[in-house]
Amino acid sequence: MPQTIIAGIGHYVPAQTITNTDLLKFMDTSDEWIQERTGIKERHYAHRTAETTTTMGVEAAKNAITHAGIKKEDIDFIIFATLSPDYYFPGCGVLLQRALELDEIGALDIRNQCSGFVYALSVADQFIKTGMYKNILLVASEKHSFGLDFSTRGRNISVIFGDAAAAVILQPTEKENQGILSTHLHSDGKSAEILAMYNPGTHANHWQEKAYAHFDDAAIGEMFMSHAMIDEAQNFPNMDGPAVFKKAVVKFPEVIMEALQKNNFTPADLNLLIPHQANLRIAQFVQQKLKLRDDQVFNNIEKYGNTTAASIPLALSEAYQAGRIKEGDLVCMAAFGSGFTWASALMRW
Ligand code: UT7
Repeated sequence: MPQTIIAGIGHYVPAQTITNTDLLKFMDTSDEWIQERTGIKERHYAHRTAETTTTMGVEAAKNAITHAGIKKEDIDFIIFATLSPDYYFPGCGVLLQRALELDEIGALDIRNQCSGFVYALSVADQFIKTGMYKNILLVASEKHSFGLDFSTRGRNISVIFGDAAAAVILQPTEKENQGILSTHLHSDGKSAEILAMYNPGTHANHWQEKAYAHFDDAAIGEMFMSHAMIDEAQNFPNMDGPAVFKKAVVKFPEVIMEALQKNNFTPADLNLLIPHQANLRIAQFVQQKLKLRDDQVFNNIEKYGNTTAASIPLALSEAYQAGRIKEGDLVCMAAFGSGFTWASALMRW
């Protein structure tokens, strides 16, 4: 059975840099608070009108296609991971297919937030292993800056997130001991409301008091999105940060160890760990727990903030370009986030 390799990788970061100090224009925060609690110094925001989640994904995809040395006509399947799609529906996959003028190939959208890339990688791996596809374009992109609460009310979330895109081309190889060795996917829906955007949605207050929509007096046509919901800022993401943090520092090491043990490795064998860039403090905790050296972990959150689905491939792409990943290296990617969902992938580069 063939193994799945990353044959091409690329990323795209929008030009506009927003420092922590820039955020003081909108909210009561400080560079000191943000750096101390998260490690973030700056992030990038897409152009408000000229760039979308899809257009950034297109740029990243072009870079990955060039790096793989293939023609876009060779691509036989698209997977697009994001939590900030251009439209509620259809997904970004078809918009990317249109923008890149690809053949009428399949386009699958993945909605697993911070774990989106690793989940998508796992899906692609199955398609490659079964021989169904030979060149999968996997894109992860986020335009968070369009949907954050920039008032002091939303500061625990808005300071963390940034915009970016990254893409990989996945191909089969017959070489032994190369490519994706295993992937491990998990979820715990008990915590779905801890990090979520409740509205607009169709829940009609079905699940939990916390995740409510104010439509008592709204006309039937307003139930999906009422004026009251906007007045109450229900259209922004909601997060119990400390609760996410506590769970993340348990699940990250667990899912990394699961991948290592499945393949008879220990943390000492790892050449590089790429943790989802949620918070530098979480990554440092995981590094300590697994007794990894600094050169075994790659972080770039200080420059980009948390770019959700794009964070792992963006870090992977930068690490690769910086010469931190060489052929034969053992690389682990691990993510944790909204859902909760968490996942890992172990690969021999
Ligand atoms: O990728 C998705 C997964 N997400 C994560 O992994 C996030 C995990 N959680 C975290 O990274 C951290 O919980 C945060 C960085 C979000 C928050 O840090 P924290 O140390 O947990 O702070 P906190 O939420 O407990 O808030 C502490 C204080 C509060 O003030 P009081 O009540 O102590 O007076 C907040 O109002 O910090 C205040 N605060 C801020 N102050 C300045 C919250 N956000 C800010 C801010 N600037 N941006």
